Amino acid sequence: MQERLEKLLQEGLDELDSAQGEYGLQSWKVKYLGRSAELSEVTRSLGEFPKEERAEIGRRANEVKVALQTAYDSRAGELRLHALEQSLSDDRIDVTLPGRPIARGRIHPSNSILRQINHIFADMGFQVYRSREVETDEYNFELLNMPPYHPARDMWDTFYTTEPGILLRTHTSPGQIHVMRERAPEPIRVILPGMCYRYEQITARAEIQFNQVEGLAVGKTITFSDLKGTLISFAKRMFNENIGTRFRANHFPFTEPSAEMDIECLVCGGEGCAVCKKTGWVEILGCGMVHPNVLENGGYDPEIFSGFAFGMGPERIAMLKHRIDDIRYFWANDLRWLEQF
Ligand code: FA5
Repeated sequence: MQERLEKLLQEGLDELDSAQGEYGLQSWKVKYLGRSAELSEVTRSLGEFPKEERAEIGRRANEVKVALQTAYDSRAGELRLHALEQSLSDDRIDVTLPGRPIARGRIHPSNSILRQINHIFADMGFQVYRSREVETDEYNFELLNMPPYHPARDMWDTFYTTEPGILLRTHTSPGQIHVMRERAPEPIRVILPGMCYRYEQITARAEIQFNQVEGLAVGKTITFSDLKGTLISFAKRMFNENIGTRFRANHFPFTEPSAEMDIECLVCGGEGCAVCKKTGWVEILGCGMVHPNVLENGGYDPEIFSGFAFGMGPERIAMLKHRIDDIRYFWANDLRWLEQF
């Protein structure tokens, strides 16, 4: 039996040297150290050996078992290290490879123009005032000098709600009344940016929802020249020093006199396109001197106070600045378009 044990030890050590991988190692363990291994059989059947040999066989079997277990542990450690080295060299990270670009969000072109407008007017001393998008008929029309059934209401095709007298504001002008009622009789210099809604035909230059920036200045000596000067310096800063501007007489019920301001069409360079309706000019705002009735509705005495107001379209301005030939891109949520800004 002693010889058998020595042979078993030698065979085990030889086989262990050539065992490869996790599977090879496990098979070896089952064969030499498992419950059905020959060595375990020997230990279990010690009682069958003559009494005088039993202790010696038991001792040697135990030594063989310890030797095999030690050899197994060391081989397993070696194989684990080898596997780690292998994986480190196979999966090595190549730090010279270009990284994957991270998709970065951008500011929507409308918001970006709104920020520029806010900035330019802030430099001229205008404060930003927020006004509500859901309005009453009273503020959107009546207090702006348009009583019920006034024909000028047709200039603004309106989205009405199911609640009588409640509508989506068609322009930012109702904000004029809110500010005046809050500030009277103090002088005012504010702009009111925000979304407006109109139930009208969508075209390359007109959307059913769009931003406006209202401007309002009220004081004791304000004239039409102040209005023109303010808007021309705005245009110079927004576009360039030599930008072509023109004022056309117009009518708004809440201003008198009233005008519209055009900017030379930068989309076609004056040759004529869908944005400028082939005229070479794009209307960007309506303006005028605040009507005495409106001043009074706001709480200012028109005998003492005067004021100017304007309402401009930031999307129209963005179209001119970025040569965008169709306003429908703004709310189409097309990433290919948005990513260009
Ligand atoms: C008004 O809305 C007046 N409240 C402006 C005003 C304010 C006049 C204060 C006098 C004093 P108008 O409808 O023209 O006016 O619109 C003003 C600007 O908003 C236009 O010049 C244009 O730039 C923009 N705008 C109007 N309708 C649309 C539309 N459907 N889509 C995109 N922009 C529009």
